[in-house]
Amino acid sequence: MSDTESDVSGSESKAEAEFESGSGPEVESGAETRAVENATDGTAGNVADDATAEAAEDATEDTADDVTEEAADRTVLKTRGLSKDFGAIEAVNDVSLDVRRGEILAIAGDNGAGKSTFVKMLSGVLRPTAGEILVRENGNFRERQFTSSKDAEEAGVATVYQEQHLTPTNSAASNIFLGFEPRQEGLRGSLLRNVDRERMNEESDRLLREIGFDFDPESPVAELSGGQKQAVAVARALIRDPPIVILDEPTSEVSTTGTDKIIDLVRQIPEDDKAVIIISHKIDVLVDVADRIAVMRDGELIDTLEVSGDIDRMDVVSRMHREREI
Ligand SMILES: Nc1ncnc2c1ncn2[C@@H]1O[C@H](COP(=O)(O)OP(=O)(O)O)[C@@H](O)[C@H]1O
Ligand SMILES: [Mg+2]
Repeated sequence: MSDTESDVSGSESKAEAEFESGSGPEVESGAETRAVENATDGTAGNVADDATAEAAEDATEDTADDVTEEAADRTVLKTRGLSKDFGAIEAVNDVSLDVRRGEILAIAGDNGAGKSTFVKMLSGVLRPTAGEILVRENGNFRERQFTSSKDAEEAGVATVYQEQHLTPTNSAASNIFLGFEPRQEGLRGSLLRNVDRERMNEESDRLLREIGFDFDPESPVAELSGGQKQAVAVARALIRDPPIVILDEPTSEVSTTGTDKIIDLVRQIPEDDKAVIIISHKIDVLVDVADRIAVMRDGELIDTLEVSGDIDRMDVVSRMHREREI
């Protein structure tokens, strides 16, 4: 399991790097090899009809018709029939899901279920093969075709990348502000002005405290603990106050104490009325923090469950692995 995890995140950083540098293809050879391996252990799209019917029932399917008015009113982003193929692999197949302000929406599913591919389309790292992403703007939904992660960020979708995306020799504050450094007041031509380090440190300190951390933002990232690094990664996503925040497997690389901190930290975010999308294959983590859980299997959205006090973890798990029951 952990091998697969680190393998997959390796391909993530590579795919992102390709996008940052503006070169096209999302499929690199390592990932292709894995896709082939994956294809041999089960084909995508073998979802039972009843599962499809259930998915249609639970208000994720399409327009506001079958969503309660209140939920519809809080919807900040929705996908319609979102799909992504990698050659013959249907990594994400026809997913329609709404994301609401003030909620933590978890995406659960086994390795290979399509969770990362789905959120990478929302964060502009991958381009959909089919379907639409609609983002709320001034009360209306507008279709957006993100061509880069920066594009998605500008539309209000910020992603917490794992700590390997940080520059270890730079301070926490400069990692948090990378690309958005405030400049000192003064002469015209903002790029000629010096970076306002004092403001960066103050703002970083404020943001880190807000999410429950208290360490010197001038510390080089290399000197921080796993949990602190993760806090820097989260703060970096929050710095521009985005309405939608995505965390993919935030607990996979931190120690247990770090994990607790991150969960607390994720809990803090929606007080701000943001929508948070969190991905994990650790069902306990999801049940702990989420308001709703979208269950994916073989690229499809199987169910969207409201989390209440008595949610049955085993039920969620069995939806992730339905084929084992049959
Ligand atoms: N860049 C890629 N190239 C080819 N296949 C990929 C790529 N990324 C993911 N896949 C395949 O798509 C499927 C879904 O993967 P992924 O979205 O990473 O699942 P999860 O995040 O749920 O573990 C898997 O079969 C995986 O092997
Ligand atoms: Mg993943």
